[in-house]
Amino acid sequence: MSENQRNILVTSALPYANGPIHMGHMVEYLQTDIWVRFQKLRGHRCTYVCASDSHGTPIMLKARQLGVSPEELTEKISADFVRDFSDFGVEFDNYYSTHSAENEELVSEIYRRLRETGDIYTRTIEQSYDEKEGMFLPDRFVRGTCPRCKSDDQPGDACEVCGSINTPESLVDPLSVLSGTTPVKRESEHYFFKLSEYEDRLRQWMSEAKLDKNVVAKLNEWFDAGLQDWDISRDAPYFGFKIPGTEDKYFYVWLDAPVGYLASFKNLCSRDDSLNFDDYWNADSDAEVYHFIGKDIMYFHTLFWPAVLQGAGMRAPTSVYAHGFLTVNGQKMSKSRGTFIMARTYLDNLNPEFLRYYYAAKLGPTIDDLDLNLDDFIARVNSDLVGKLINIASRCAGFISKRFDGKLADSLPDPDLFAEFANASEGIAEHFEKREYSKAMRQIMALADKANRYIDENKPWIMIKDEERIADVQRVCTQGINMFRSLMIYLSPVIPAVAKDAREYLNTSDWCWQDAATPLLGAELPKFKPLLTRVEPEQVQRIIEQSQENTPVAAVESDDDTISIDDFMKVDLRIARIEKAEAVDGADKLLALTLNVGDTARNVFAGIKAAYDPESLVGRHVIVVANLAPRKMRFGVSEGMVLAAGPGGEDIFLLAPDDGAKPGMRVK
Ligand code: 2FM
Ligand code: ZN
Repeated sequence: MSENQRNILVTSALPYANGPIHMGHMVEYLQTDIWVRFQKLRGHRCTYVCASDSHGTPIMLKARQLGVSPEELTEKISADFVRDFSDFGVEFDNYYSTHSAENEELVSEIYRRLRETGDIYTRTIEQSYDEKEGMFLPDRFVRGTCPRCKSDDQPGDACEVCGSINTPESLVDPLSVLSGTTPVKRESEHYFFKLSEYEDRLRQWMSEAKLDKNVVAKLNEWFDAGLQDWDISRDAPYFGFKIPGTEDKYFYVWLDAPVGYLASFKNLCSRDDSLNFDDYWNADSDAEVYHFIGKDIMYFHTLFWPAVLQGAGMRAPTSVYAHGFLTVNGQKMSKSRGTFIMARTYLDNLNPEFLRYYYAAKLGPTIDDLDLNLDDFIARVNSDLVGKLINIASRCAGFISKRFDGKLADSLPDPDLFAEFANASEGIAEHFEKREYSKAMRQIMALADKANRYIDENKPWIMIKDEERIADVQRVCTQGINMFRSLMIYLSPVIPAVAKDAREYLNTSDWCWQDAATPLLGAELPKFKPLLTRVEPEQVQRIIEQSQENTPVAAVESDDDTISIDDFMKVDLRIARIEKAEAVDGADKLLALTLNVGDTARNVFAGIKAAYDPESLVGRHVIVVANLAPRKMRFGVSEGMVLAAGPGGEDIFLLAPDDGAKPGMRVK
């Protein structure tokens, strides 16, 4: 191990295991992966861990909606994540889940230590409660009319139309998203972490952590507003870890999520003897820890997380690197425009290296948003990667293999020019280190231009016709291939798959950063195979078309009347047994049905009186929409919808399930 070798632990934010990875997510994983690969290439001990964020109410409810356990759901989605990441060349040293034994142990231990230091207390709070579902509602699960702009159907946190910060209580006519009923207020005891006591320690941390100035500005805003204690508990039912010593309280997902960084690392340490958990996480650790995150989750990573770590007697992160959001063609990703592109859709059509390069060419260390302009993407990839970089090798390799049996010359004709490439090394490295990838890419492409100019000027294709200058062709092409080689080394964190093929061509099993400074001479090279082919506009067009096709229509601003699979999945179809059926006074068409849907009895009004004699219905199994919001009708409240077919009147036919169906069974 060299004296200057750094021990570095790097994380990307843990993705929620309840939906697919898209191009927006990829900004972060590619930014991190490039940085990690760069550190490894420089010879540092750099470890990159991640995991699925598997807990919380949305995941619990999504699983319920799909009729699977949250474990099953998150495992399935995590397997898709792993495939997407790996196909994009994102190379984690460990990918784990927050729903793990290590995580439960760590979060419980941290909680125990925080209790010991007096940083945890309980307080009774009032919260929206859905009596029908028997659960407390997160703010986003209550929707109603915004008190400010009067837009209806707005969530109980921030209005999506006017941006006003609302609460479930401030909404007009609030309704639970789950049952459609009006939430009530209910009290419950919650556990709080005394963040308010951490201002001095956090200010100290902020001054040492080399944060981007926008992050510092945000932190100062929060300090000025005064730090609020943090509610770290949630009531059952909840998918998460139970708080030790309680029966129905769970750790809030945002506590065990960052602890998931530790858990994933710990899990890796248990397999790798050369890594020691405490060396990285003890208060006096001299290892470096960096969290790459999106700017939307800075609060959690720059306030709660360092404070929790400090409180638990551990070290805080060395820094937190926040990035901006992705726009496509200058706008928010849009399902109707086909720019809400899933990672898999991209992978089905295009080489992942292109996106890696394009993001790198646009990424800086700030929280500015990054635009994926699809025309620019095609132009830049074709011009930079194919037209400039790969072209250097293609222009020289043919001569070497055809005319010199693949052998490189023993010396360079222009060592000064090569020295320019070698001397650029530290400047480029500094750009990578500071996450100024766009600057690094610009510098590398300027060198590629230089290399192409050298070949243009020397014209090996003309020289080769002159018997006396044949040896010069070998030397000029050796110069060209060596300039290409140095640039490939610099670019290998960005386009690792191309770099691997280039290494194969250059007969090298591995590279380190310093290799760029020494030319490869006299080596015998195999036949050159084209390393990349151009992006065709049709491929990008196909991605857009497929993104429109695959789009969950729920969010599509479309004017046809189709619904998306997500909309469909929201419909909870159940088997019900008709326990009672009777005519309704004053209604010609309605029957009042009492249904057994596996839980409490429900009253449903159905317009089937002309077709069915009430007595004939008792005991019969039917299919109902069980999660329809209750509707107040003239004759009472209807709590569901019975499915039937036919034009109406006497021609109405209740849909009958097969024998064996039991009340409450889900219809799929
Ligand atoms: O915002 C999110 O997608 C979270 N799942 C990120 C968690 S990062 C860390 F704290 F675990
Ligand atoms: Zn509003």
